[in-house]
Amino acid sequence: MKILGIESSCDETAAAVVENGRVILSNVVQSQIDLHKAYGGVVPEVAARSHIEVINAVIDTAVSEAGSWNQIDAIAVTRAPGLIGSLLIGTLAARTLAIIKNKPLIPIHHIEAHVYATFLNHPASTPPQLQPSFPQLVLVVSGGHTQMLLFKNHGDFKVIGGTRDDAVGEVFDKAAKILGLPYPGGPSISKAAQNGDPRAYQLPKAKLDHPYDFSFSGLKTATLRAAQKVVGKTHDFPSGAIAPLLSAKQQADLAASFQSVAIATLVDKFIEACQEFHPASTALAGGVAANQLLRSELTRRLNQIDAPLAVAPPALCTDNAAMVASCGYFRVINHVNDRPTQSPFADPYTLTADPNLELA
Ligand code: KG4
Ligand code: ZN
Repeated sequence: MKILGIESSCDETAAAVVENGRVILSNVVQSQIDLHKAYGGVVPEVAARSHIEVINAVIDTAVSEAGSWNQIDAIAVTRAPGLIGSLLIGTLAARTLAIIKNKPLIPIHHIEAHVYATFLNHPASTPPQLQPSFPQLVLVVSGGHTQMLLFKNHGDFKVIGGTRDDAVGEVFDKAAKILGLPYPGGPSISKAAQNGDPRAYQLPKAKLDHPYDFSFSGLKTATLRAAQKVVGKTHDFPSGAIAPLLSAKQQADLAASFQSVAIATLVDKFIEACQEFHPASTALAGGVAANQLLRSELTRRLNQIDAPLAVAPPALCTDNAAMVASCGYFRVINHVNDRPTQSPFADPYTLTADPNLELA
């Protein structure tokens, strides 16, 4: 079964064709990073306009690289959550194509799709997954979400923890802005941190009563306060005026100290959850899963307790449509095998985009 995936929830316009949920036949990602860099973050109106401009070409390329429309069995599209203007473009494109090409339409939740990046066959994936083994404990870390999910089967999962405030990717982006590092903050913080001392600043780890919940806004504020202090200013000094006063060493040390606390928080909580739930496998997904420190620390700690970790290569961790197509495939298979009453398909005449839909 060949599925065309379409993704436009934030600042990547993407289309991909995936066979049987695993084999990537094409994977086109048109990133808008250069458009948003000047603003230090994603500007929703600019994002939506850019999706409109490129989506037809992105889809055409994905289909023609994989073969032709005749070979496409269904269309899977991210319909939630994300920026409404962005989601609308992908959803409308998918609905229109489903109608005129007469293909079934599968609506996908973006966060669930991220998990499926780890099921895609790729020479750089660890391990090259043949079958995901359940129960699987998954840490999803992106610009909009930080969640721990326990999967009993495809499409059958429980959210066991999540962030109470900012998502971890969001605080990477905000901390980068304070330190004068370019958008997106995740990769630029990691790069700056390579020359820094992670013990230079003592930044706090949030303590919460629920063991698997996260809170990152305190870490963001503590980074801001440390930056204000090191340049000799008080807490009312504007965050946007700090960066020019920082030396390269201060910037690198702050980036390294921030990164080490953010990553240690994720790793410690995930290990604790593994020890409670004893999953058959674990996976790391979402844009922040591209972070090398997170990948290596989580792998090292999971090895100590003999829990195998699945993680996709960095290019498949950040937004793409191959993960959407794969998620669509497993939704269909799961319907056929386990959930005959729950149709995976949507009516192309009525499907709506939903910017706030929670993972349920
Ligand atoms: O999954 P994604 O591409 O989009 C969303 O669904 O949000 O994640 C984007 C987030 C951004 O916040 C970006 O800064 C972060 O992932 N990110 C990273 C790295 N690469 C991307 N965070 C930490 N380290 C990285 N190497
Ligand atoms: Zn994402």
